[in-house]
Amino acid sequence: PPRLSCPKSSFNMRLLMCTFTDQLITIVPVAVAAALSTYLLTRYFSSQSSPESRVNMSVNKDSPKVVHSFDMEDIGNKAVYCRCWRSKKFPYCDGTHTKHNEETGDNVGPLIIKKKTP
Ligand code: FES
Repeated sequence: PPRLSCPKSSFNMRLLMCTFTDQLITIVPVAVAAALSTYLLTRYFSSQSSPESRVNMSVNKDSPKVVHSFDMEDIGNKAVYCRCWRSKKFPYCDGTHTKHNEETGDNVGPLIIKKKTP
């Protein structure tokens, strides 16, 4: 873009505006590059899941996604499913969430599905 011809001396409004414009021309690209770099680095590091941030520590780790499906007819009168991912009987709750909650201060518990009794 065409640049203003800035006077080299004498303080006046035009000199002030030229100085401001020169600073903006320098600062804006640096600020944009810094913001873009921060955004890309944040996205990169947030996509890297560390073992500490994982919920599933041991269930079917060789599978890309752990999914269980049940037919309602097969559940019976009551089923208790683990939501803490610590159960040795996963997907069923075995009470391990109590120990997990005591050790971590967490408050997770099972999903209980039961039929209404008439
Ligand atoms: S053992 Fe995981 S919710 Fe009970």
